[in-house]
Amino acid sequence: MGKAIVLRKYGDTDQLKLEDIEVKKPNKDELLLKQTAIAVHFHDIYVRTGLYKTLTLPGIPGLEAVGVVEEIGKDVSDFSPGDKVGYIDRNYGAYATHRVIKKKLCFKVPDFISDEIIATNFSRAITVQMLMEMVTQVKASDTILITAVTGGVGKIFAQWAKSKGVRVIGTVGSKEKEVLGKSFGCDYTLTYDQPNFIDEILDITNGKGVDKVFDSVGKDTFENSLKSVSTCGHIINFGQSSGPIEPIEMSLLASKSLTISRPIIFDYISETETYNKMAQSVFHAFKNGNIKTPTLTPFNLQDANLAHDMLESRKGGGSIFLKT
Ligand SMILES: NC(=O)c1ccc[n+]([C@@H]2O[C@H](COP(=O)([O-])OP(=O)(O)OC[C@H]3O[C@@H](n4cnc5c(N)ncnc54)[C@H](OP(=O)(O)O)[C@@H]3O)[C@@H](O)[C@H]2O)c1
Repeated sequence: MGKAIVLRKYGDTDQLKLEDIEVKKPNKDELLLKQTAIAVHFHDIYVRTGLYKTLTLPGIPGLEAVGVVEEIGKDVSDFSPGDKVGYIDRNYGAYATHRVIKKKLCFKVPDFISDEIIATNFSRAITVQMLMEMVTQVKASDTILITAVTGGVGKIFAQWAKSKGVRVIGTVGSKEKEVLGKSFGCDYTLTYDQPNFIDEILDITNGKGVDKVFDSVGKDTFENSLKSVSTCGHIINFGQSSGPIEPIEMSLLASKSLTISRPIIFDYISETETYNKMAQSVFHAFKNGNIKTPTLTPFNLQDANLAHDMLESRKGGGSIFLKT
């Protein structure tokens, strides 16, 4: 018998309740994991409240975790009992002590990196890898704009881009966060709502605008993203923390010969070979110190409600995870 947080009704954090679950045998292409660290992301809050109706109720929330393989399906040859593995699963189910999971979604975690760091930051880091090395090739000669630079993805992005010699402008929600943005490698920081935002961008770039914009805030920042990008520039929208972007006219792109991308990580990691190469790039970035070890905040699995309270307060707390 295992334990899991089961959501039976959308609502406040008191809907996150611990229940007994049956631990099933893995099918032929599956692994049974005893989980050690489970990520708590902002996305999980939207799932809990019902803003995203992407989890069928009753259901177990959670997208990402690390665990040790206890049993393998009969067709599995590339994983063995005792291996430490991580996964991201868009179909949820991570808030649990045990997990049966398709081996296609799993990757081996190297010994030099902790379960907690990978559980909390792998999807963020592989998203950055996708954005910088697959959706576009970020070069040392580039000046880039990253929105929400002190968020989970943003801080990894700023550090990793800086390690490539890129000039980084980061935007933040408040003046206080500007210092934090600089500590993650931003050359310049701006608040979204400062009145001279575009003048500052043009000043920094000698009137040209930035080569690439990486916008995860969406609705509230997209207009400035369009104004900030250079002629023949590239805007990559990869999130909508403030809400979805209104439909746009193609002629708007023609005004500066712009490219716009809207990538989703799950499409980029659907092929095992590519997934493994992307994962190796992430592990190297951690190993070489291109991404600093984040502050980790643990909660017990049964206290998932407290973990959500902390995340929702937006008061920090670092990378929040559940331990089993
Ligand atoms: N496309 C993909 O495949 C992919 C993959 C991973 C993540 N994402 C998306 O990327 C975004 C960032 O992820 P993350 O893990 O870095 O999230 P996070 O740690 O929660 O950071 C989000 C940041 O967005 C800013 N923000 C601005 N308006 C906001 C609002 N109305 N509500 C909440 N936050 C707001 C906040 O910074 P300030 O307080 O400074 O404004 C916050 O730090 C999310 O939208 C996520 O869904 C997309």
